[in-house]
Amino acid sequence: MKMAIKAKLPSVFFLFSLVLVFANLALAKEDPELKWCKQLCRQQRQYDEQQKEQCQQGCEAYYREKQRREHEGGGGRGHEDEWNPESPEQRQRECTRRCDRREEREQPQCQQQCQQRYEREKQEQGRRGRGEGEGNDSYEGGERERERAEEQQEGRNPYVFEDQHFTTRAGAQHGRLRVLQKFTERSKLLRGIENYRLAILEADPQTFILPHHCDAEGLFFVARGRGTISFVRQDRRESFNIRCGDVLRIPAGTTVYLINRDNSEKLVIAKLIHPVSVPGQFEEFYGPGGENPESFYRAFSTEVLESALNTKRDRLQKLFGQQRQGFIVKASEEQIRALSHHEEGGIWPFGGESRGPFNLFNKQPSQSNQYGQLREVNARDYRELEDLDVAVSFANITQGSMTAPVYSSRATKISIVTDGEGYFEMACPHLSSSESGGSEGPQGQRKSSPSYRRVSGHLRRGTVVVVPAGHPIVAVASNNQNLQLVCFEINARNNEKFPLAGRRNVINQLEREAKELAFAVPAREVEEVFRNQKEEFFFRGPRQQHEGRADA
Ligand SMILES: *[C@@H]1O[C@H](CO)[C@@H](O)[C@H](O)[C@H]1NC(C)=O
Ligand SMILES: *[C@@H]1O[C@H](CO)[C@@H](O)[C@H](O)[C@H]1NC(C)=O
Repeated sequence: MKMAIKAKLPSVFFLFSLVLVFANLALAKEDPELKWCKQLCRQQRQYDEQQKEQCQQGCEAYYREKQRREHEGGGGRGHEDEWNPESPEQRQRECTRRCDRREEREQPQCQQQCQQRYEREKQEQGRRGRGEGEGNDSYEGGERERERAEEQQEGRNPYVFEDQHFTTRAGAQHGRLRVLQKFTERSKLLRGIENYRLAILEADPQTFILPHHCDAEGLFFVARGRGTISFVRQDRRESFNIRCGDVLRIPAGTTVYLINRDNSEKLVIAKLIHPVSVPGQFEEFYGPGGENPESFYRAFSTEVLESALNTKRDRLQKLFGQQRQGFIVKASEEQIRALSHHEEGGIWPFGGESRGPFNLFNKQPSQSNQYGQLREVNARDYRELEDLDVAVSFANITQGSMTAPVYSSRATKISIVTDGEGYFEMACPHLSSSESGGSEGPQGQRKSSPSYRRVSGHLRRGTVVVVPAGHPIVAVASNNQNLQLVCFEINARNNEKFPLAGRRNVINQLEREAKELAFAVPAREVEEVFRNQKEEFFFRGPRQQHEGRADA
C-alpha cells in the first residue's frame, strides 16, 4: 500500500504541475522575458535534465509573481524596507526588476545572474540552517570560489554595492549590524581601500546597544535618528547626544555604548571602519553580556575569573549567564531618560580634548545653489579626522538636478545614499579594454592610449558606490525626490575636487593655444562650449533620465 502511494505521488504531482505550467503558458503567451529565461535554463550545460526543469519552473514562478505584483499595482513598497530587502526572494525580485530597465540585449545575462545569485543564496541559507558555516574551511573555500565567479560577473561594475553585498553580522530582536563585504573580495581594483570596511548599524526606538570595544578605528555618521553615545576611557566617561548629521570618531579600543532615545524613529549609523589588528578584519568585544552577546569574560577559566574578580564561581556563573537578548536590548523610558542627560553635541566643557561629535549641517555649504548643496567636513573642522586621513561630505541634490562631472585628486570616495533616488555615470579606464573586468593585464601590457567605459548604476537608499581617485563622475537626482549622499573620502589630505563643467572648470583654465592644440579646433569653439554652463557644481539635470543603466 505504501509503495503504491509512493509510486503514484510523483506522477500526480507531475500532472498537477503540468496543468499549472500550461495554465501559465497560456497566460504568459509570448512573454519574451519568460521565453528568454527558460531558454537560458535549457542552455546551462552544467545542469542535468532535472535541474533544467527546476530552473524553468523557477522562471514560471518568477513570472507569476511578477504578474501578481503588476496586478497589485507594484507600488506600495514601504520606504523602511529599502535599506534591506530581507529574503533572497525579495532580493531576487528587486534584481530582476532592475534587469527590466536594461537594454534588451543585456537582459538575458542579467536575469541569469539574478537567478544564479538567488540559487546561491538559497543554498547558503540552507547551509546556515543546518548549522554549518563560517568556521568551516571547505565552506569558506567554496565561498571564495563563488566570490570569484561573482567578481567575473560583476567585473562589469565592481563599484556598486547593494543590499546583497552586506551580511548581518550581529542580529538582535531590536536592531542589527550589517557589514559590507571586503572591497577586495569584489575586485582587485579596490585594493587601495582594502583595509577599510563599511558597516551600517540600525537600532529600534528606545533601545540600548551594549558596551563593547572594537579592534579598529571607527568613524560614525549619524544618518537617521537621535541617540546618546558614551565613551569609557581609562579615567573618565564622556557622553554626547548625537543626531542626524553628526560625524564622530571612535578611537580603536574605546569602550562605547549607545542608546536610541527617540520614541519612534530608528537610529541609523553609517560606520567607516579601519582595522588596527588584522588588515581588513575587525571584531567587536563584549565584556558586559552573557550568552548573547557572549561576554569575553566567559572565555577565561573559572579559577582565573574567581581570583581576578575575587568572587565565588556560582555568583559569576549567574552574572555571566543571564543576558540572552543580543547586543541591542529594549530600555525603559526612565532608563532612556537617565542615560540621555547630556549636552547636545558641541564642546567638551571641562578642559582637555573633546571627543564629541561635529555636526555636518552646522557648517556652511561649500557649494550651494538651487540645484543642490555640498557640505564638507575635514580635519580643519574636526581634528579627530587628521590622523585618519578621512574627510566626510554630504551632497543634497535637488530633484531633477545633477552634480557637475567632477573628480577627486587624491581621495577615493565611499558614497552611501541616505535618501532619494537617481543614478550615476562614471568614466573608468580600468574596465574599458578587458572583458574580464576587475583584473588587469600584466604590468605595462595595455593599449598605447587609454579608453574609458561608462560605468553607471541606479542609486537608491542604501546603495554604496566607490569612486576611485581621478575618476570623473556625475550623480543625477530623480525627478521626484532629492538625492542625498554621504561620502567618506579616504586619503583626504591635500585632496582637491576638480569640476569638469560649469563656472571654474578645468578646461577654462587652459591657455587659448593649449585648447586649440588639445582639441584641434579654434579656441573660440572650445570656449563657446565650456563657458555655456553658468552654474557652479550643481546644474539642472538631463531632461530625459535614463534610470541607471548598468553600463553602455
Ligand atoms: C563543511 O562543509 C562541508 C560542505 O559544505 C560539509 O560536507 C562538512 O561536513 C562541513 N564540515 C564541518 C566540520 O562542519
Ligand atoms: C536637502 O535639501 C532640501 C531642499 O532642497 C531640504 O528641504 C532638506 O532638508 C535637505 N536635506 C538635508 C538632510 O539637509
